[in-house]
Amino acid sequence: MDRTTCARIASLYDGRLQRGYVMGKLTNDPVYAATVAAIAGTQLPLLDLGCGIGLLGQYLSAQGHRLPYVGLDHDERKIVAGQRAAQRAGLDAMMTLRHADAAELPALHGHVALLDMLHYLPAKRQPALLQAAIRHLAPQGCLIIRNVLREPNWRFHATRIEEFFLRASGWIPGGAQHYPTADELRDPLENAGLDVRIEPLRGRTPFNSYLLVARPHC
Ligand SMILES: C[S@@+](CC[C@H](N)C(=O)[O-])C[C@H]1O[C@@H](n2cnc3c(N)ncnc32)[C@H](O)[C@@H]1O
Repeated sequence: MDRTTCARIASLYDGRLQRGYVMGKLTNDPVYAATVAAIAGTQLPLLDLGCGIGLLGQYLSAQGHRLPYVGLDHDERKIVAGQRAAQRAGLDAMMTLRHADAAELPALHGHVALLDMLHYLPAKRQPALLQAAIRHLAPQGCLIIRNVLREPNWRFHATRIEEFFLRASGWIPGGAQHYPTADELRDPLENAGLDVRIEPLRGRTPFNSYLLVARPHC
């Protein structure tokens, strides 16, 4: 996405810090473009679990998508910031942002995104959320997960240090609970009959982030 569009989206948010964060995410993080690529050619609604301030919805709209976008997050401050931005952009009809825990999913079937959020759930809750996400997929829908994976490498340790500061700054209250392995994600999805592709997706960061796209067999 070009810098002018990124700056326009950033200007929808309050305060210099938040605008700087939005600008940095939209210009440097490849996860939003990867999500657009994964859902290309479909017009299904998208359920974004742990949506933060709704950047994926803003990105989709800027790329010309008009699919209904429903984001939910248990951090009310982020939801309020995202709602304000959606209103300022005139996107209230397309974007719905709800203050809710990921355990309370709306009755919607389409694509499901879990971008950088799964590791904030304890190990015991992750399989249940994966199963719930699978149940919310439409027949042509895909599940898009970006997450740090537990691996014995320096990138994984760099991620843990970053997460320490994210928690200490108050940006993510509670902080990381459990980093899944690739198998912990792949196995339940393949057992549910989905084709799973996993590849590194870390942009310019040193973090151990991967993109997982799961979709029904063709
Ligand atoms: C690192 S942010 C990612 C935000 C967004 N997905 C993005 O990539 O732009 C992780 C988000 O997950 C949310 N989150 C963590 N646990 C959650 C839960 N149990 N239910 C809902 N949201 C949750 C946090 O509040 C935070 O906004």
